[in-house]
Amino acid sequence: MSALAQRSLVPEILDELAADDARAQRSRRDLARINALMFQAPIMASLMRKFIARPPARILEIGAGDGTFMLKVARRMARDWRDVELTMLDRVGLVTPQLTADFAGLGWTVKTVTADVFDWAEQADGRSFDAMTVNLFLHHFDDGALLRLFSLLRLKAPLILATEPLRAGLALAATRLLPVIGANDVTRYDAVQSVRAGFRGTELSDLWSAAGGMPLEERRAGPFSHVFAGASPAGDVP
Ligand SMILES: C[S@@+](CC[C@H](N)C(=O)[O-])C[C@H]1O[C@@H](n2cnc3c(N)ncnc32)[C@H](O)[C@@H]1O
Repeated sequence: MSALAQRSLVPEILDELAADDARAQRSRRDLARINALMFQAPIMASLMRKFIARPPARILEIGAGDGTFMLKVARRMARDWRDVELTMLDRVGLVTPQLTADFAGLGWTVKTVTADVFDWAEQADGRSFDAMTVNLFLHHFDDGALLRLFSLLRLKAPLILATEPLRAGLALAATRLLPVIGANDVTRYDAVQSVRAGFRGTELSDLWSAAGGMPLEERRAGPFSHVFAGASPAGDVP
């Protein structure tokens, strides 16, 4: 059986470094370049155009990191979508005033939540969102944790859009080229683990269904990415 037939999860180094650690800061800059090489922002924007029929009022980005990924997505959407309230949730608070100003220039308002997503999803109530987005986030969790997370998240918004690593030989081979872009040791190690923990087939759809949701689409996108769109049953979201 191929080594990539099943997901394999090993803790990523970035998750264990302090936010102000120099290696972590460098790795987050590498991540922005990896997102660009994977075409993650255009892939997410195309999912948004396909599945979000009307301009949304409120979007929740989970595992938002420093927010630069979502800024690239917003730049692609802002001509048609003004006055979006974007909530960026991450367990590390990295969003800068400059980034918030960049979003404001597009007509988008930023709110931040610094919390573990499980703690937040179990406790949060109040207004729901029009859509949730995740980029390079779901692969951090094993299937049991994803089932729990999906059961909580489907109550928060009628739609979830995910752009994740594709678990495939080509993607794994590409991680060997990361020294060419000057990626540091943290990025090089984490990229390999991310591919091994990535997704293929209908893995996310199966988990979303098991959590009570309705899968809309799951497929490979571009050379290195795997995308998923799922809906919540009508009546789930307050
Ligand atoms: C690989 S990074 C991706 C960041 C961002 N989406 C991007 O593409 O630049 C994963 C992010 O998920 C966050 N994260 C991991 N586990 C989390 C959790 N349980 N709750 C909230 N955020 C979490 C990390 O802090 C990190 O910023």
